[in-house]
Amino acid sequence: MSIQFNKNTNSFLLNTPSSSYIIRIYDNRYVLHGGWISRIDDWDDDICSMPLIDRAFAPVPEELHGKADFSLNSLQQEFPTNGRSDFRIGAFEALCADGTTISEFFYESHKIYKGKTPIKGLPATYTKKDSEADSLELNLKDPVTGISVTLIYTVWNDRDVICRRTVVKNDSVSAEGIYKNQSVTLRRVMSASLDFMTSRYKMLQLSGAHARERHAIWRPLVPGIQSIESRRGTSSHQQNPFIALADYNATETTGEVFGFNLVYSGNFTAGVEVDQFNMSRVQIGLDPYNFNWKLDAGETFESPEVVMVYSNKGLGQLSRTYHDLYRDNMCRGEWQYKERPIVINNWEATYFSFNAEKLFKLADKAKEEGIELFVLDDGWFGKRDDDRSSLGDWYVNTKKLTGGLEEIADGIHKRGMKFGLWFEPEMISPDSDLYRAHSDWCLHVDSRSRTLGRHQLVLDLSRDEVVDYLTETLSKILSSVAIDYVKWDFNRSQTEVASGSASPENQGKTSHKYYLGLYRLLENVTSRFPHVLFESCSGGGGRFDPAFLYYMPQCWTSDNTDGLSRLAIQGGTSIAYPSSAMSCHVSAVPNHQTGRITMLSERGHCAMAGSFGYELDLNKLSQPELQEIKEQVELYKKIRHTVQFGDLYRLRTPWDEPSPAESTDYTAWNLVSKDKKQAVLTVVWKFPEGNPETQLVKLAGLDPKAKYRLTCYKSATIRAMLADFPFPIPESEFAPFPADVTTSGEKLMNAGLFIPYKPQYGGSVQIVLERL
Ligand code: DGJ
Repeated sequence: MSIQFNKNTNSFLLNTPSSSYIIRIYDNRYVLHGGWISRIDDWDDDICSMPLIDRAFAPVPEELHGKADFSLNSLQQEFPTNGRSDFRIGAFEALCADGTTISEFFYESHKIYKGKTPIKGLPATYTKKDSEADSLELNLKDPVTGISVTLIYTVWNDRDVICRRTVVKNDSVSAEGIYKNQSVTLRRVMSASLDFMTSRYKMLQLSGAHARERHAIWRPLVPGIQSIESRRGTSSHQQNPFIALADYNATETTGEVFGFNLVYSGNFTAGVEVDQFNMSRVQIGLDPYNFNWKLDAGETFESPEVVMVYSNKGLGQLSRTYHDLYRDNMCRGEWQYKERPIVINNWEATYFSFNAEKLFKLADKAKEEGIELFVLDDGWFGKRDDDRSSLGDWYVNTKKLTGGLEEIADGIHKRGMKFGLWFEPEMISPDSDLYRAHSDWCLHVDSRSRTLGRHQLVLDLSRDEVVDYLTETLSKILSSVAIDYVKWDFNRSQTEVASGSASPENQGKTSHKYYLGLYRLLENVTSRFPHVLFESCSGGGGRFDPAFLYYMPQCWTSDNTDGLSRLAIQGGTSIAYPSSAMSCHVSAVPNHQTGRITMLSERGHCAMAGSFGYELDLNKLSQPELQEIKEQVELYKKIRHTVQFGDLYRLRTPWDEPSPAESTDYTAWNLVSKDKKQAVLTVVWKFPEGNPETQLVKLAGLDPKAKYRLTCYKSATIRAMLADFPFPIPESEFAPFPADVTTSGEKLMNAGLFIPYKPQYGGSVQIVLERL
């Protein structure tokens, strides 16, 4: 059992392979935190627990009068509240029948069991066998209001992971006086609150914007609150529901790092309060903004889950733990471990302007290149020729596609490719038949005008009839035509988050009920069509969160496909999310988001860090470009399993500053198959310089005892470009190594590879290593 209860010290020890998480019950009532530390097994005494200290201005509850050293304000707690004696940020707030928001929870009982229980209506990590994890339920109660709280911890036996969540029950039937049988309104329910003894950490967050998602941002902790949140009704491009605290000096390979990732796709908050004693309180959960959940007597509310990961080997280890957990215990279904097909998507090739002939021309070329899946993106339905109409009218635009969807699907299948289709099911255009029939089906406030985003409104998924309607509509299309893949898009933030079907006192539920509705819809559709590969999207990566991975194993990482921009986007994303989940495409130059021109080889190398594809008009390319794409596709098929399901080692990160002595800035990573038989090393120079210094790249994750053969593929376009160079460039100059060099894993990791940069590399080098 990874969870033990010690009767002598009245404490719980939650052990993962490398960490221990301690909870102490003080005075049989107060639930205190005892630290999340490198693993210990001996915990019979209390000597390392935080001592009680008599602090100035420390209030003491009346019943503990005379014990001035006991003050909640300076103790580590598991589920702090406000209004009694802790002035730091509380994990809970409810408006009670007497008009106050004070609450205080005391230990009542606990339960320890094998395995993990699912959360009703919310996505979460799951165990395949009970032996994978143990769970602890701590039952606490506020004796005054009758509200009870259950803190649920799942401790993974073979992973450094603890999942936490909170269940609130309005048990006011057991309360007295004014509180008896009364409703309460929940205003803040954190999924986890965790007190660290020090503030000697740097905080990591994944922040950005549309086309610039999830850049890794580090900041030192300072006194006060530092937090991120999303109020956009999506987990958002701007902030990801993830933060980490890392030792001041932690690196990719050293130091303690603690990660917190909320399994939720809507509004969230995550942050740290550093108090007067430089203790740090981490909290993560639903955003209190626009959240007022009326809980009637007897009702229960369940928070989303937070996935907490521990590493004492730096950020790289933390990432690999998240990747393995999400691949094995978050993703589900037929595609969980299946290699993902190489995609050609028509969006950047045609935008809205296409017909069957144009699509088949693109598909024919893609087929010649060895591409496996054709995706028909936006513009195939209603009367949609731009983004101003038709969302909600999910029937084919026969003006554009005169032979209907059948003709396209059949035509693609006849060419020996899979067929995928784009939807944006949660949206409605004011110019649509659906809106003309149901103008109250969108989120709105009756007395206000409706705010449009990309000319569209958001359907009100807090309403059961809307979820049922979408389930049936999507099911009809997915069963009428052979569809192998669905791209599920969402292209605006939510405003006027209110429901035409909610009473004023229940309006504060709409935002969260929207997500309960969406998750029901996703469960309905994905379980009815288990063979379909679903990819989530939100104007690129606006909802790249663990909750979506429960339904869809991959996500369109960003609308920005510029290889160099993708270094920071994919690098940041890779901190919490596995490469199989990151959908990455090669697109045309000049890039449609940045205007930058980069080499095809470099675009390919960057996109081969995830689930791979193309998004450009192949018919406009030159022979060498088509030749190179054919070679990229062939290569990707050979390394696909390693890339999608291997271990990621970030060797030099996009957020590393070059040292003052360096003239070039580069990023490097290698992906290693689980059996260590294959690895793929990629080095990308962000700003190549003339006559630069030689890069020494030390690999990681290889089998030290084994010998590896190194192959560096040369770019057809670069060779063609340099063909009429004033003096001939020998073949050997196009790669840092002659083909088929062999050397040991030990040397590659300890001595490293010297890569003297040459312009002939076009800005990047990719080396495939095969174990002999
Ligand atoms: C936003 C997505 O991120 C794009 O890839 C594309 O599908 C467009 N929407 C279509 O409108």
